[in-house]
Amino acid sequence: MSLLDIWDYIRASGDRRLRQQGYLRGGVGIIERYRRTAKFWEPHLENNRRALREIAAQIAGAAPMANPQSAIPTPQSGGGTLVILGAGRLLDVPWQELFPLFARVVLADADSAFVPYVERLLSTARANAMPKPIFDIGDVTGSVVDLAAWAEHTIAAAASPASAADALADGCNRAGAAQAPWARTYVDVRLVVSSNLLSQLGHFPRLHIQTLFRRRFGKPFSEHERAAESLERYFDRVRARHIADVASFGKAWAYLATDVETLVYTLSAQPGASLLAGEAPPNAGVELDEKGGVRFAWPAEIEERDDPLHGQRVEDLWPRGTVLDPPRRWAWHVVPQGSEKKYRDRGRVHVVEAWVKRPG
Ligand SMILES: C[S@@+](CC[C@H](N)C(=O)[O-])C[C@H]1O[C@@H](n2cnc3c(N)ncnc32)[C@H](O)[C@@H]1O
Repeated sequence: MSLLDIWDYIRASGDRRLRQQGYLRGGVGIIERYRRTAKFWEPHLENNRRALREIAAQIAGAAPMANPQSAIPTPQSGGGTLVILGAGRLLDVPWQELFPLFARVVLADADSAFVPYVERLLSTARANAMPKPIFDIGDVTGSVVDLAAWAEHTIAAAASPASAADALADGCNRAGAAQAPWARTYVDVRLVVSSNLLSQLGHFPRLHIQTLFRRRFGKPFSEHERAAESLERYFDRVRARHIADVASFGKAWAYLATDVETLVYTLSAQPGASLLAGEAPPNAGVELDEKGGVRFAWPAEIEERDDPLHGQRVEDLWPRGTVLDPPRRWAWHVVPQGSEKKYRDRGRVHVVEAWVKRPG
């Protein structure tokens, strides 16, 4: 971890629940992982950037949009607002090309340490004049952080694991997923980006609840099937709501990319070898075959498969009538074998699906 990362992490303020629930640690983890394996991430990041550049070209070619909300003079801008959800360190966003096209740029993330990082990044820009971003620090769902905080109290107050699990199941079954505040704040949105966020929406709250449950009762939360499944069904509603909110700006473009499958592999001919020792092969050594399965550049065994969307298919979550391009899919080599302590003799690949919604 660089000294600047440590400094950003320590001094980050705001809603303390975001730190408690792991969002700040998660942000540091992502940038560390990226720095370690940048060459392996590049094809994936570039796929996202390319798709966003294609949208930018369409927006730049379109007629400027009247922008009654903004007084910011941006000569080359078409006006309107760009909203990036889960913006993080903007690794997958071609911000130098994108930002100057808009009168307002809103960057939303639950990891408040993304603010100083992005400010430093933008200060290096030699590009065209661009609006200073508005940083929206907090939960983009307006729901999951509250639910995890409520679960924390429920676990602390329960007399037994069974009564905690019952209360958690009932609470999750009651919990709704209302419209997110960002979805009703800006009337002139021209592009909404949700990149690498959808499958993450349940990640930190789930981990927080599982950790607290085990710490309090010495037993895994997953043993309580009704509660664990109720929590997952609540996350289903959160993801469905997220896509509905992204799609709700009828006249805007939207870009939504998400993991749809995760795999853990071992290299059968090179057990325990670190892939970081050599050059990254084309496509980081992973691509999708004709049937959508992951093909490796080395002989590999798949050890685990997981569905981060709990059976949901993104195509089913778009509201009827949404104007969509056919989705693109690719493989992202997230953790090359041997690149982390936890992955000495294993690696990790995610299958990513990316959707473009056109103005309706
Ligand atoms: C996998 S990262 C992608 C970050 C960014 N797209 C990039 O490549 O640099 C997911 C991001 O979503 C953020 N995130 C996850 N859940 C969130 C939530 N409920 N509200 C706001 N941000 C969230 C994380 O803090 C993280 O920055």
